[in-house]
Amino acid sequence: MSAKIIDGRAIAQQIRQEVAEEVARIKARGQVPGLAVILVGDDPASAVYVRQKNKACQNAGIHSITDHLPADISEAALLQRIEALNADPRYHGILVQLPLPGHIDTQKVIERVTPEKDVDCFHPYNVGRLVIGMPRFKPATPAGIVELLHRSGISPAGKHVVIIGRSNIVGKPLANLLVQKQPGANALVTVVHSAARDLAPYTRSADILVAAIGRPEFVRGDLIKPGAVVVDVGVNRVPAETPKGYRLVGDVAFEEACKVAGAITPVPGGVGPMTIAMLLKNTLTAFYLQQGA
Ligand code: GUN
Repeated sequence: MSAKIIDGRAIAQQIRQEVAEEVARIKARGQVPGLAVILVGDDPASAVYVRQKNKACQNAGIHSITDHLPADISEAALLQRIEALNADPRYHGILVQLPLPGHIDTQKVIERVTPEKDVDCFHPYNVGRLVIGMPRFKPATPAGIVELLHRSGISPAGKHVVIIGRSNIVGKPLANLLVQKQPGANALVTVVHSAARDLAPYTRSADILVAAIGRPEFVRGDLIKPGAVVVDVGVNRVPAETPKGYRLVGDVAFEEACKVAGAITPVPGGVGPMTIAMLLKNTLTAFYLQQGA
């Protein structure tokens, strides 16, 4: 069997086009949605993600800035900067790129972003709304996965979705989105993680298998049920003789998986572009929230 490749780039491009059209309508009324991104320090991967986010905003007509702060900025100064952005009406969304340097309390930072501008959907208020099925924002990567399935004609309803990984950014919110009794969801969800002595009995019963553990090529062909849909959230840099000195691989051993799965998302070009597209959508959601809509 040779799996169908799910083209995240093409689907993300459709969404970006939809957002751009909506932004144009907003601008015709004399308003401009805005996003402020805070990047602390010089983590190379974070710098790449932030550049991609800003470029996507520009292409969609969203006004965006990057606040690049030094790695040794104090926690108090960072919190102050967030408060200034909370009060600044030009920016409807605020995103603090993670991870933060070790001397900063990440949870404190997350909780300082006002929930109305929390386009990451990391604030406990927004996480709570998500859990009870009344989300205002949906976190970008999990929402991107749900949208990718929907626009590929794959319904999770009544299916067994197994998520490998329990992070606050992907595993936990994705489980909460997919378990809701709502269109595009209504799945039977299992979250597996490092406490499992043997993952195979779980993963091999998955109709839809989501790998979000951050370990290069962890999911081999023998963990996949024949014909399953495989969603690879991993973005791992592994040393390689390329101009950059590395190549990107997912959490799934792609070639092997292609022989077993029915459909699969590639890395790069699968979930990654969807994350950025959903961030743009969340910026529009934040804009409308602040109009009182
Ligand atoms: N670091 C890795 N993924 C994310 C994300 O979705 N949002 C933020 N702010 N930081 C991240």
